Amino acid sequence: MNRREFLKISSMGAMTLFLSGCGLFGSDQKVNSAPEKGSVSGGKSMKIVVINSSPHSDSESTSKYLAARFVDGARSAGHEIFVFDAAKEDIHPCQGCDKCGMDGPCIFKDAIENTLMPKMLEADLIVLVTPLYYFGMSAQLKIIVDRFYSRTGKLHGKKSIMMSTAYNSADWTMEALMNHYNTLVRYMEWTDVGQVWATGCGARSLVERSEFADVAYKIGTNL
Ligand SMILES: Cc1cc2nc3c(=O)[nH]c(=O)nc-3n(C[C@H](O)[C@H](O)[C@H](O)COP(=O)(O)O)c2cc1C
Repeated sequence: MNRREFLKISSMGAMTLFLSGCGLFGSDQKVNSAPEKGSVSGGKSMKIVVINSSPHSDSESTSKYLAARFVDGARSAGHEIFVFDAAKEDIHPCQGCDKCGMDGPCIFKDAIENTLMPKMLEADLIVLVTPLYYFGMSAQLKIIVDRFYSRTGKLHGKKSIMMSTAYNSADWTMEALMNHYNTLVRYMEWTDVGQVWATGCGARSLVERSEFADVAYKIGTNL
């Protein structure tokens, strides 16, 4: 699907997009809203791992902008943050060799095994950040998610947040990725504590002036 196709699909939403600055989501309280202050951390400093997965530069990426706002908020609230940028790292997809027996280590000694996984294992909260690619997560993020296989049990019990940006602003834009995320949370025995689904945010200027950026910041401050 090319950019023109996205435009066609979202033509109905385009007017809303211009009127609202950025595609607004429905009134669901669970998504695109911040938790009660202190309700996630209980007022304690948490170890947070943020996984970015856009190949766009830091200054151009819409999803990394959301992540940066979240990080600003969470740091201001005293949390310890580690950011992993999947698109900049040397990472390999799971080979399904099962040498790990789902209990590590992985045969690959790459940035996932050596850098990210140790941080994930000690983290309280994991934040998955992706541009919407063909109504799912980016390949860069999927590589990492598949590599959870080597430590599935050890990663149980974490808290999680999901953030995604998309060009389209139709109300079903994020549906498939939402379902995937919710299923992943269930399987990994995680507790979801926040979701930002930034539809109608296909350009940096749109996400910067959107309500989604403020929600991302507030989720960080309110943890
Ligand atoms: C390969 C590719 C696939 C995409 N698929 C979708 C899609 O399915 N739906 C959509 O609304 N936008 C889609 N987009 C647009 C991006 O989600 C959008 O531009 C997003 O803001 C990019 O985020 P980033 O700057 O953080 O990478 C796609 C873009 C690319 C390059």
